[in-house]
Amino acid sequence: MVESATRSALTAEIVERRSVVAFDGRPIEADKLQALIQAARWAPSASNRQSWRVTLVRDGESRAALNAALSEGNQGWAPNAPLLVVFAVAAPDPERPGQLPKLMLDVGFAGQNMMLEAVHQGLRVHPMAGWNEEKVKAALDVPEENAVAFLLAVGYAGDVNDLPKDVRPKETRERVRNAVGENFFDGVFGEPWRG
Ligand SMILES: Cc1cc2nc3c(=O)[nH]c(=O)nc-3n(C[C@H](O)[C@H](O)[C@H](O)COP(=O)(O)O)c2cc1C
Repeated sequence: MVESATRSALTAEIVERRSVVAFDGRPIEADKLQALIQAARWAPSASNRQSWRVTLVRDGESRAALNAALSEGNQGWAPNAPLLVVFAVAAPDPERPGQLPKLMLDVGFAGQNMMLEAVHQGLRVHPMAGWNEEKVKAALDVPEENAVAFLLAVGYAGDVNDLPKDVRPKETRERVRNAVGENFFDGVFGEPWRG
């Protein structure tokens, strides 16, 4: 069962953020880039370890190589975004081999902060898991021990009609979520939230 995005008393940025695909090439102003960085920088992290390693890629050789590292589906739209942000994670401590999933949480919080700030700044965003890790690392010279967590496309709105036909529905698709009781429980695991 699904329901549409709730439009009630939520923060505007949470309601407005959606994963869109129509970007134009207009560059993002320096003060806005600074705001995106600061938003991510002030994310919480366990023991304040700030394990995120974030590369903002606008143009040049590394950008061309990064575009080519995207999955085929994402190559249909993401190269139009003036900014791709690569969220990676610092190398886990070799003495704590199970640490990686927890480091990934830190970087996820930083990414969410950046997305909401981008929306606040009048930008649109789209996170991506569709890319080739080896190629992403090669494109940016990411040290082998680091792990790439996700990529984020950021930019201003473009014309959806400039996109390949099969990509266009992604721009206008309805945002849906499971019914609250499927994921949110009351007191014990699995007991649907009663409100
Ligand atoms: C970690 C992560 C990876 C994602 N990877 C892709 C991707 O590779 N390509 C894509 O088109 N969308 C990708 N998405 C977008 C999701 O499909 C989208 O967030 C989801 O359908 C909910 O829609 P909304 O973001 O508009 O609320 C990804 C989202 C997240 C959080």
